[in-house]
Amino acid sequence: MMTHSPLSPLLSLCAFLSGLVLSMTPAISQPVYSERVMSLLRQMSLEEKAGQLNLQAGHDPDVDLQSRAPISSPLVEQAIREGKVGGVLNIAGAGNTRQLQLVATTQSRLKIPLLIGLDVVHGFRTIFPVPIGQAASFNLDLIGAAERVAAIEATASGINWTFAPVLDMARDPRWGRMVETAGESPWYTAAIARTRVQSLQGLHLSDPSSMLACAKHFVGNGATEGGREYTGANLSFRSMRDNELPPFEAAIGAGIGCIMPAFNAVDGVPGIVNKRMLSDVLRKELQFTGLVVTDHGAIAELPFHGVADNLVDASLAALTSGVDMDMASMGFGPFLPDAVRSGALNGDLLDQAVLRVLSVKERLGLLDDPFARHDQRREQMLLGHPDHLLLARQFAEESLVLLKNDHALLPFKRSARSIALIGPFGADQDHLMGPWEAAGIHRDVVSLREGMTRILPHITIRTVTTGYEDKADPKALAQAVAAARASDLIVLALGEKAMDSGEASSRANPGLPGQQLALLKAVARLGKPFAVVVIAGRPMIEPALYARSTAVVQAWFPGSQGGEAIARLLFGLSEPVGRLPVSIVRSIGQIPLTHDKRSTGRPSPGPPEAWASGYIDEATTPLYPFGYGLAYTQFNYSAPMIINADEADARTYRIKVTVKNTGERAGTTLVQLYTHQRLATIAQPEKQLRGFTRLYLNPGEQADAIISLNRDDLSYWSTDTNRQAAQGWIDLMTGPNAADTKTTALFVR
Ligand code: BGC
Repeated sequence: MMTHSPLSPLLSLCAFLSGLVLSMTPAISQPVYSERVMSLLRQMSLEEKAGQLNLQAGHDPDVDLQSRAPISSPLVEQAIREGKVGGVLNIAGAGNTRQLQLVATTQSRLKIPLLIGLDVVHGFRTIFPVPIGQAASFNLDLIGAAERVAAIEATASGINWTFAPVLDMARDPRWGRMVETAGESPWYTAAIARTRVQSLQGLHLSDPSSMLACAKHFVGNGATEGGREYTGANLSFRSMRDNELPPFEAAIGAGIGCIMPAFNAVDGVPGIVNKRMLSDVLRKELQFTGLVVTDHGAIAELPFHGVADNLVDASLAALTSGVDMDMASMGFGPFLPDAVRSGALNGDLLDQAVLRVLSVKERLGLLDDPFARHDQRREQMLLGHPDHLLLARQFAEESLVLLKNDHALLPFKRSARSIALIGPFGADQDHLMGPWEAAGIHRDVVSLREGMTRILPHITIRTVTTGYEDKADPKALAQAVAAARASDLIVLALGEKAMDSGEASSRANPGLPGQQLALLKAVARLGKPFAVVVIAGRPMIEPALYARSTAVVQAWFPGSQGGEAIARLLFGLSEPVGRLPVSIVRSIGQIPLTHDKRSTGRPSPGPPEAWASGYIDEATTPLYPFGYGLAYTQFNYSAPMIINADEADARTYRIKVTVKNTGERAGTTLVQLYTHQRLATIAQPEKQLRGFTRLYLNPGEQADAIISLNRDDLSYWSTDTNRQAAQGWIDLMTGPNAADTKTTALFVR
């Protein structure tokens, strides 16, 4: 059960009084900096100021990070000594990071400690499911617990800053970074944003187990055209407010200390020079006082966008648009001092950025004890702690989504004597962690085969690893078919390699790469039932996969304990509780197609229909809707009932749904609430997720789910500046997924 208020209390009050919220554009709020920070600033030369704004690699270019040997980086150390570095990234280990911190705090003139950043996106040593898999759990407690573990492990290894959470909206499976997101619902992404920020930053940022979080990529990064990485997006400012901004607002409300603008241009304006977003919205309207850091090398990309002539102009444009820190372009350090001296840059702007960097360092406790996060004994004790691994396995179990289960093939009987495990990922330890593996260790990953052995030590597993090749391998194919023929059970572990998903891995055809479909079809021709486990950072748009398989489990990249989690699900030691945080389209031509698409003047809910919104050669519905996922049992849902005494004036509505387990096994269902305002000045989404709660029911058992709906969640942006409060009839729809709902109506005065 969740509530979400995208409005500040003041704006909510306005909404309550007038029914119409006028957005206000106050001045940038000027935080009061401590005397310690101000005194540091006063002592700094222009070069030292610019140095604080430089975030660069924490290792020399020739260092082999894969070797995990202690790192020695004389060039980086020299730059730190000279006061040219405010923070480093892509280095970890209490020892390595301690050495750099030591140079900064004992050998540089002003002894200012370093920010030490890394992409800790879904775990550090213990790797949890990728964010899209985490979102599939619809379990905010688990998401929070995993982020806490990630923070505990990363900070034990010297990290004080993570470039996470990713708050981009993902509406296109061609876009590889869907894997890093929470899917297509802004409301749900906002709820997750709040949870992640609180868990990563902890109660106090100065706690040695807390790290600075950095919400990214501000904003509209997931709306990239055609799903092409780094490509521009065209979004109206109003729809930006409705769809892309809410997660960032939620993160700021939860106290996030850092924001990273997007690489890509929205309406032609790259994220780091988007003054309207960085200044008017972020600083003035949302009153964000933290740090703004560019994405990796983003300043150096401005000339390629064609909006700056060279690195000098690009650096000035970024700083004056609202960026504080330069990640890896090496533009601020060398060029800003001269720009101030020549009058091209107002020195106050430089000071503002430096103050933000110093202030974040102070909030992290670095000015008091720079070595609190560099304790090798603590690091050894905490990384990959058994409690963390157990949490990772439980989380992986909850991230799995059962998409198809004909003839109740799953769960498999544990009395089976043999199983064929076919495909690229049956014995794989290299890809289950997904594209951001931080300090994860491949050889420690529990493969699916190992997971099966752990729970059924005596079962014969016939593993055939094949399918990812570009060209058919007839011998391997024959082996796979023979293994399938000879075994009691058949599992195909198919999908994408970790680096075929994630950043810079957009795919025009996000189906099964290589020979995997041929492999599936060859096994299918045997006529025996078989289950497919899909390891991937996005849903596979591959109609035959769903049509030909008997059962399909969407496993995402389930993390370092993923293999055991999948095995437990397949053999009924756990039950499928994950649900889809994205719609799965039938064909690429349908993209984008989400549960919250807007109403049209020619609706066509049914099969392909001429003269209606849709296609003449394809359905208008997804193959699997948002929120979808089967259980090992069945449920019957009542229609929703509003149980408030005075519904028209309530601030929070309570909606009751009665659910009965009509199957033969105990199981969990995710009761979902969607809303739709019937009459508005802007065509409204047909459905928007607004709440959910889980019910665990024994066979034959019936219970009530109560979901709260926050009235503020019903408001929408009617123009760029007006937030319109809910009014009139609102459809409340509840059910087990976005396409299977029952409706009641609510009247809001
Ligand atoms: C990505 C960011 C990431 C940064 C640092 C960039 O390429 O877009 O999300 O934080 O690299 O690794």
